[in-house]
Order: sequence, then C-alpha cells, then structure tokens
Amino acid sequence: MQPNTALVTGASSGIGMELARICAREGHNLLLTARREQRLMELKNELETEFGVDVMFFTVDLAEHEAPPKLFEFVQENAISVQILVNNAGVGDYGFFHESDWNRQAAMLDLNIRALTHLTHLILPEMIKQNRAYILNVASTAAFQPGPLMSVYYATKSYVLSFGEAIANELQDTGVTVTTLCPGPTESEFQKEANMEKSKLFDRFPVATSKEIAEYGYKTMIKGKRVAIYGLINKFIPKAVGISPRSFVTRVARFIQQRKD
Ligand SMILES: NC(=O)c1ccc[n+]([C@@H]2O[C@H](COP(=O)([O-])OP(=O)(O)OC[C@H]3O[C@@H](n4cnc5c(N)ncnc54)[C@H](OP(=O)(O)O)[C@@H]3O)[C@@H](O)[C@H]2O)c1
Repeated sequence: MQPNTALVTGASSGIGMELARICAREGHNLLLTARREQRLMELKNELETEFGVDVMFFTVDLAEHEAPPKLFEFVQENAISVQILVNNAGVGDYGFFHESDWNRQAAMLDLNIRALTHLTHLILPEMIKQNRAYILNVASTAAFQPGPLMSVYYATKSYVLSFGEAIANELQDTGVTVTTLCPGPTESEFQKEANMEKSKLFDRFPVATSKEIAEYGYKTMIKGKRVAIYGLINKFIPKAVGISPRSFVTRVARFIQQRKD
C-alpha cells in the first residue's frame, strides 16, 4: 500500500509541476500523470532525491475516453491510497469558435471536463473512506463570465467551478473537501499551447508565476476553502460580474481578449 499519495494531473509543466513539488516538500508520496514521459521521469528523480518521498508516474493522454479508467486501474494495481486528487491538466484555444479546429475543441472538452469528472468519480469513493482527503480542481478566473475568443475554454472552466462547488456541498459531512482554484493569467506553457500570443489578456492583467499559484492552491486546499481566487484584482472579478449586466460583462471579456494586431 502506498499511503498519503497526491495524484497530480498535468504534472509535466507549469502549475501542476509546481503543485507536485509542493506536495513532495510537504511529505506526500506522488502519482504524477501527463503525456510527456521524459518530463515525468525527470521530476520523479528530482523529488525522490530532494524530499525522500516515493514517486510513481503514469503516462496517458487524458483526453482519450478510456484514460481515466486506465489510470484508476494503475492506482488499484499498485494499492495507491489517494489522499489528494489534483485535477490540474487543462488546455485552451484562442480564436473565433466558427473558425476553430473541431478536434481541438473536442479534446479540450474531453480533458477539461470529461477527464476531470470521470477521474473524480472513480477515485472519490475511496477518498470518502479516509478521515481526511482533499480534491483540488484547477479552474480559472475564466469561470466567472462568458469569454468571446476563447468561448469553449471559458465554458469548460465555468463547468469546473460549478461542479466543484456542488460536490463540495454534497461532501460536507465527509472528510473530503473540494477546492476550486481560480488563477488569472499565469506564466506556464499554457499561453503558447492555446495560441494566445495574439491575445492582449496577458498584457492587460498582472501575470503570476506557476509557483505562486501552486503555493496558494496548496494552502487553500489544506484549509478546505471551496473557491480560491489568486490575486487582489482577480478577487474583484466575480464581485463586479455579479452586479453588472451579462451583456456588458461579455463585451468587457471580449475587449480584454482582443487580438494585438
Ligand atoms: N496559465 C494560465 O494563464 C492559466 C490561468 C488560469 C487557469 N489555468 C489552468 O491551469 C491548469 C494548468 O495549466 P498551466 O498553466 O500549468 O499550463 P501548462 O504549462 O500548459 O500545463 C498543462 C499540463 O496539462 C498536461 N496536459 C495537456 N493536455 C493533456 C492531455 N491531453 N492529457 C494529459 N495531460 C495533458 C500537460 O502535460 P503534457 O503536455 O505532457 O501532456 C501539462 O502538464 C489548466 O487547467 C489551465 O486551464 C492556467
């Protein structure tokens, strides 16, 4: 049995990699997952050497429908007791929906929504049997409003927030807490992967480091906070959205996401 394990999806870069480092520093064993095996192997070596924890990894494309059950099978075969589930893997795609590549939209839906939900569904029953266990879902400040030019991405993050808050309520009489982390723009590989270099978003908002987001995410998860929004300006977003007409909010989001050229 590998006890006290944190399962981190999207651990090969950015926020997920930093969350894995923090979990190791705090004494958790780890199960890392992403598609890039070399990165996971290097991270395993780094964390085992530096923190003396046990690190396993499982390479998988979580956008594939059979991926969550395969990962769960690995958890069961290795008798891994997941105390922390970090649903962090996620992708975006910049541009008009009607001009977008359908396969990219479909993979985004499968990763950001389907895999997160399926993995939680598979792992949660065992977590409920523990005295204390934690789920950390990585959404975004995108969760609070519609996002023209990244319409599907914003909608996936609204789903993550809604789902997380709902199951946090369902689980209130158990030892499992659910924290939905909402970062604003963050330095990582996300911007390039999402073709966002043309967007003005990263010029218009303060940009945090992945480490800052991960430290905040870990701290708020341990406290059992339900919604964790990083940064003063970002904390203001849901408040402003709540008192503004929806059409105005959508126009502002479009302005923020405008193309540079
Ligand atoms: N960066 C931002 O500005 C920002 C802001 C708000 C929220 N977020 C959210 O933060 C989370 C982490 O993103 P990040 O900023 O750290 O970006 P990142 O550096 O691009 O990391 C994304 C991670 O997800 C993994 N991943 C992507 N597609 C996958 C797939 N099909 N199957 C399995 N793993 C996959 C990647 O690993 P492989 O490529 O090796 O598979 C990588 O480890 C995402 O959910 C993102 O939506 C980011």
